[in-house]
Amino acid sequence: MEQQKEKEKLQKGIAEFYDGSSTLWENIWGDHMHHGFYHPDSTVSVTDHRAAQIRMIQESLRFASLSEERTKWPKSIVDVGCGIGGSSRYLAKKFGANSVGITLSPVQAQRANDLAAAQGLADKVSFQVADALEQPFPDEQFDLVWSMESGEHMPDKTKFVGELARVAAPGGTIIIVTWCHRDLGPDEQSLQPWEQDLLKKICDAYYLPAWCSAADYLKLLKSQSLQDIKSADWSPFVAPFWPAVIRSALTWNGLTSLLCSGKLNVHLKIIFLRR
Ligand SMILES: C[S@@+](CC[C@H](N)C(=O)[O-])C[C@H]1O[C@@H](n2cnc3c(N)ncnc32)[C@H](O)[C@@H]1O
Repeated sequence: MEQQKEKEKLQKGIAEFYDGSSTLWENIWGDHMHHGFYHPDSTVSVTDHRAAQIRMIQESLRFASLSEERTKWPKSIVDVGCGIGGSSRYLAKKFGANSVGITLSPVQAQRANDLAAAQGLADKVSFQVADALEQPFPDEQFDLVWSMESGEHMPDKTKFVGELARVAAPGGTIIIVTWCHRDLGPDEQSLQPWEQDLLKKICDAYYLPAWCSAADYLKLLKSQSLQDIKSADWSPFVAPFWPAVIRSALTWNGLTSLLCSGKLNVHLKIIFLRR
């Protein structure tokens, strides 16, 4: 009961957060609400950041070997935690696929559908308000299950992974790009208190529940009937993004001061697997 109340409170917070901030974000950053991917040592100009966000999608597909063979291109895609649908529209165009996106934010779903219509994609992509933890889809529906920086919002990672696996078609691909904390050492039961304090501040600013590590995800994924599980830490490739966000003056709930203090220790992990 208490858990259900907590979940509802979190979901309401997430929906309101994205209802209230998505237009502002779109005006500055365009239709992708995720990190950019940067090659280390490259000098980054501000105009490169939108290109870097597209590169994040491309690198994720490459990591999962999805862009290579045309015969393996997905025909049906679910975009779990779709924002205003940037990934769905990109993937639908690239693969000629159909995509359906889900978000908790009614404002995002409406905007995503409007953008799809404006780009002549309304017959290929659609968006709706739905919970990633109780997806309104039958089993084994999608060739590509895509979760770009939405997993960190999920309060129940077991259920989240279970739903991703459930809706993936046999032979389909699941791509999860998500924020994780570092893996614990063999003698550690939890993160250090100072790390927990830091993460709590990020959680409070962004409506995030407790974090887990990539190792925790891998354990959950192995417990499903999934094959070819692969993961990587992309933290160095996304590092230039947040300073750019700060420069763009998007300062949400004091997150800026945290970032400026140089203490942010978020790891971006990509996890790919085939069913
Ligand atoms: C940081 S945005 C990422 C948006 C998009 N994937 C992108 O890359 O542009 C996180 C998204 O996850 C969605 N989200 C969070 N929790 C969710 C849940 N339980 N069910 C569905 N969507 C959820 C939010 O509504 C938001 O659209």
